[in-house]
Amino acid sequence: MLDRTGDLWRAHLETRLGGVAVDLEACGFDAVLISAGSPYIHFRDDQPAPFRANAHFLHFCPLEAPRHQLLLRPGKPPFLAAWCPDDFWYEPQRVGSPAWAADFEVVECRSRPGQAGEIARRLPAGGRTAFVGEDAAVAETFGLAANPGRLLDRMDWRRAVKTPYEVACIAEANRVAADGHRAAEAAFHDGGSEMEIHRAFVAAVGCEEAALPYPSIVGLDEKGAVLHYEGKRTDVRDARTLLIDAGARVRGYASDITRTRPGTRAGGRFRSLVAAMESAQQALCDGARPGRPWAELHAEAHRSLAGVLREAGVIRVSPDEAVESGLSRVFFPHGLGHFLGIQVHDVGGHLAHRDGRRAEPPPEHPTLRTTRTLEPGHVITVEPGVYFIPMLLDPWREGARRRAVDWEAVEALLPFGGVRIEDDVLVTDGAPRNLTREHLPT
Ligand code: GLY
Ligand code: MN
Ligand code: MN
Repeated sequence: MLDRTGDLWRAHLETRLGGVAVDLEACGFDAVLISAGSPYIHFRDDQPAPFRANAHFLHFCPLEAPRHQLLLRPGKPPFLAAWCPDDFWYEPQRVGSPAWAADFEVVECRSRPGQAGEIARRLPAGGRTAFVGEDAAVAETFGLAANPGRLLDRMDWRRAVKTPYEVACIAEANRVAADGHRAAEAAFHDGGSEMEIHRAFVAAVGCEEAALPYPSIVGLDEKGAVLHYEGKRTDVRDARTLLIDAGARVRGYASDITRTRPGTRAGGRFRSLVAAMESAQQALCDGARPGRPWAELHAEAHRSLAGVLREAGVIRVSPDEAVESGLSRVFFPHGLGHFLGIQVHDVGGHLAHRDGRRAEPPPEHPTLRTTRTLEPGHVITVEPGVYFIPMLLDPWREGARRRAVDWEAVEALLPFGGVRIEDDVLVTDGAPRNLTREHLPT
């Protein structure tokens, strides 16, 4: 599928270089130096954390290694001052001549002064160059304006609309992760522990654990109620249900997929809840249409999930009442989804305009990660969930409000944790394209 990426990459680079040229001019700059970043070294240690390149760097240059510097000057080829020191402790990463670099000027630099010299020679004389990255020392070396907010807002804004190359990368990340989800499901049905299920996922994806886009969430039974559960228990097996939220990365781009798998001992009530959530989630995916404010779809999700809970006999009030009283938030306390790209929670979600105006989430939905109106090219996760979370349920157990909930039903479902179903969806001019279901139909 990625055999077309050569052409797609070229078109992506052209589009993005055109975009950054407009943004630089609008912000009064002639060029931008983007740093890949440096490894984070743990406190009083010599061990680095797994390296993640600056996403703005990866967006223009698919090379995930530290200390590379990329200079973009409108009208000129991108200049990559690659960091390739002679080293016998670590293997130097040479750039070589991959297809993506055909349109770059690349110099492999073996020392810091050498790299600085190569960059200095190419900075526009008498011009203004911005710096984007976290290494303040690099900006200081050249006297550059570090991370100007107006420019970053514009760059973030653009990243929300994916090019066909980016869509292909995210689709491929879905294909790879789908293999992982199938292997994880098989390990669960074999009675595996969270650790064994997680290992089955990683083995099928075929990467190092540190290369996953985010730590896998593998929750058996009640752990499904911990939204970002990262434990990997080895002593619990033969569980009734599995909630797995796990993705893969391709050329820096992520997938983010959740499935809830009832096992043979799950029982009818929980199975019906999962089936109802599946229908609700698919209808919400279909609602990801251009011109639709995301907050509106999130509000629809609350009404829809309140309907599911009412049908399941968990709540006793109407869906409208559940939403108005805040009861639906007890069961669905997170946002419906978020932009997806190089970052799992991709940038630009709270921008109302490229000029940096913000649209913060409404106070009743503070965890909404995007408030944007959908446009063709947006890739967004659709991940409704209902959970049985004791700390959110407890305040409703006393007083007049307690009658809104069927507590017997809640007690019966608490051991199952919850249900979340998450797909990655491309907004188009017409019907949305579900990048996950193409590879993982259920
Ligand atoms: N995997 C984290 C999330 O779904 O947002
Ligand atoms: Mn997500
Ligand atoms: Mn997820």
